[in-house]
Amino acid sequence: MPPTRVGFIGLGHISIHAHLPGLQPLVESGQVELSAFCDVSEEALAEQSAAFGAKATFTDHVQMFEQADLDAVYINLPPTLHTDQVSIAAQRGIHTFVEKPVSLDMAQATGFARQIEEAGIVAQVGFMSRYYSSAEHVVELLRDRTPRHVQVSLFYSGKPVRWWTSRYEECGGSFVENTIHMIDLIRYFLGDIDDVSAFYLWREPGEGPEMMNMPHVYDVNYRFASGVVGNATTSRVLTDANGAGRGEVLIICDDALIEWSTTKVTVNGETTFEAEPKGREAFALQAAAFIEAVQAKDPSRMRSPYGPSLNSLAAVLGANASAERDGQRLALADVEASEVTWNPRHCAGHGTPTLD
Ligand SMILES: NC(=O)c1ccc[n+]([C@@H]2O[C@H](COP(=O)([O-])OP(=O)(O)OC[C@H]3O[C@@H](n4cnc5c(N)ncnc54)[C@H](O)[C@@H]3O)[C@@H](O)[C@H]2O)c1
Repeated sequence: MPPTRVGFIGLGHISIHAHLPGLQPLVESGQVELSAFCDVSEEALAEQSAAFGAKATFTDHVQMFEQADLDAVYINLPPTLHTDQVSIAAQRGIHTFVEKPVSLDMAQATGFARQIEEAGIVAQVGFMSRYYSSAEHVVELLRDRTPRHVQVSLFYSGKPVRWWTSRYEECGGSFVENTIHMIDLIRYFLGDIDDVSAFYLWREPGEGPEMMNMPHVYDVNYRFASGVVGNATTSRVLTDANGAGRGEVLIICDDALIEWSTTKVTVNGETTFEAEPKGREAFALQAAAFIEAVQAKDPSRMRSPYGPSLNSLAAVLGANASAERDGQRLALADVEASEVTWNPRHCAGHGTPTLD
């Protein structure tokens, strides 16, 4: 089989440190050719094409789609920078990988999902936590059990280092930008979510690091279609306590309190799975699944196809919408249909120069 010709749009952090290294074994074995790189930064293009050996470089994705022969494209852009990249890929029948969150605008994301489905292309979202062996182990543990309760607690620490991931209007807040991974993972374990209700502690102007305008705390309740109830708390309070953060994912059944982490799973305190930290292994497995699905034209080879992943996006954007309505319970069906939306300007009083 000839190599799958892959393009990249966006050569930032996640492309350089995760997806390009993840594809490297497939490049070396001749299954993948890095055919084109696109970034608005000439410097990024020069550095990364030297490091990874792309055949052609572009500063404009429209030109890239017109001039490069591609079978698949990675779209690794911050969520507010999605315009017509997915639409053009779908029109051209180019299989697509999109980093999470695929958009901050639910209507845009569902529009892309429709175009993907109509075009019949393979499309995967970057929820790589589904590819940890520890996640597979939890799926096995749950096979003969009835989960009733799930709890996610994430306490981030340290000062923000980047502008767009520090701003409510640019990334949707830490719950949308980061916790979406764990929300998607508990969906992998427990199925779709039906309802959300959330309370946030909003960051007031002048509180905390200057460029950060996101909430201090996100306290979110979910009801799953299966009846499971859950809570996901995310704290961004510990800005002056570097290294003090921690995270926990608990699934509770009648006979088992299951605790998941990337490298270890315990049941009632006993370790049932342990793996050496293997860096970017999940990204490599995700890349291999994507390329296999593209070559077979079979989305079922992937764990995170685009359409079904929209429930994860609705769960986090719905949390924002509920918190902006003082904890009102919202049906995710209404969030997915964009009948209820969140407002990126909700934090406008907290200093959002990019919007004014
Ligand atoms: N899966 C994960 O664990 C994980 C981790 C980090 C980031 N992400 C996600 O990956 C996406 C990208 O994040 P990042 O950290 O790589 O961002 P980044 O800011 O590091 O990189 C973005 C890149 O896109 C380029 N760019 C901007 N506009 C462009 C355009 N119109 N055309 C082409 N290139 C353009 C920028 O020059 C930059 O090089 C985000 O959605 C983020 O949430 C996922």
